[in-house]
Amino acid sequence: MRGISINRMYRLFFVIYLFFMGGSCYAQPHEKQLPPDRPLIRYKAGEMPDRILMSITDSLAQSRTITWRTSKATPTGTLEWSDKVKQVDFYREANRMDALSEQFVTYAGDTVYYHTATLRALKSGQHYVYRVGEGDMWSEWIDFSMPTDEDAFQFIYMGDAQNDIRPLWSRVFRKAYAAAPAADFVIHVGDLINHSQNEYEWAEWFRAGDFMLAAKPQLAVRGNHEYVKDEKGVKQYSTPSWPHQFRYPPNGPSSLPNGAYFIDIKNCRFVFMDSNDALDLQGQWLEQVLKNNTKKWAIVVCHHPVVSATEGRINDGVMTHWKPLFDKYNVDLVLQGHDHVYARGRIPNSEGNRIGPTYVISVAGRKAYAVGNHPWMEVKMGNVQTYQLVEMSDEAIVFKTYALDGQVQDVFRIVKRDGKPVVEDN
Ligand SMILES: [Fe+2]
Repeated sequence: MRGISINRMYRLFFVIYLFFMGGSCYAQPHEKQLPPDRPLIRYKAGEMPDRILMSITDSLAQSRTITWRTSKATPTGTLEWSDKVKQVDFYREANRMDALSEQFVTYAGDTVYYHTATLRALKSGQHYVYRVGEGDMWSEWIDFSMPTDEDAFQFIYMGDAQNDIRPLWSRVFRKAYAAAPAADFVIHVGDLINHSQNEYEWAEWFRAGDFMLAAKPQLAVRGNHEYVKDEKGVKQYSTPSWPHQFRYPPNGPSSLPNGAYFIDIKNCRFVFMDSNDALDLQGQWLEQVLKNNTKKWAIVVCHHPVVSATEGRINDGVMTHWKPLFDKYNVDLVLQGHDHVYARGRIPNSEGNRIGPTYVISVAGRKAYAVGNHPWMEVKMGNVQTYQLVEMSDEAIVFKTYALDGQVQDVFRIVKRDGKPVVEDN
């Protein structure tokens, strides 16, 4: 058909549909939530599982939760798994588990199914393999390994992906995985995509992350771009597909399921927070979580920086409701995104001494803002995509930031003295 593509016709139909429906639940500008006219990758669900992702709903030491998506042609799901990874025919006697299958209607009106299955009582240091599917539609077999009982562990920290995810964020994620194939999990600090309900952008994120998303736990928080906004850009509610894709411990405020949670990993309590909403309520929850922390270390993950690394971007709510608790309970490290620069430092007190948690802001995607100049910033960089590898042990937190040439851009070490974090620059 000349002059107007099928996709454009579909959009026109969709606008008319929204007009008559009142558009109340789809108030965000619809064009930005739809795939491009000429999609370069498949984004619609099919009979075959896609968007396979590993989360933690119980503990890093003993369980793994797997989620995946299919079209309505495959409304049920099964997970098969085995610990006989050395046997070539392990699959003949694989264990089977029914998934919880939930229907979901996308912004564009497609009915899909998200499936969830949790493996429990997994063994320390054991290697496992699993696949997901139904009937004759199965994923490939995916290997993963459980952590050993050693004190030390390692994780990857990724800043915002957000823009040109497939062409430009994919390389950062691959580099990080290649640099730390034995890392125990990956932390994403929000703004994984640019438009919260755009299935094409989510397709890009899952395509870029590929098997790596299925083989290691992905621990994420929501950024402002994982929120639906009204016509004036005011945040309304979080991405409806989020709780189907990311499954986390139900130990946060009940109004923020899968948005605020904590996980104890060896000698560290990781607290994941949604810096978009209910900051006061989360502050009250955070106080209990930090007060009851029996682990040596405490790391907080949130999207909006407590102190900005650019000019004119202030997040008062986080500063007011959360920062005093970070100081009071000796949080060691705060991992953040949002500002599209790299910055690291501690906030000077009234005497000019740098004390308290180390704040880090990083960006993995291609969007770059101008770097600001604030007293808290000890290291700063602009126009650079980075990934971070963090090595944890009873003795220290060793933090390294890498650019895509593989060179270390920043390195520091945190030790504990009298219960308080002390930074040693390398
Ligand atoms: Fe953001």
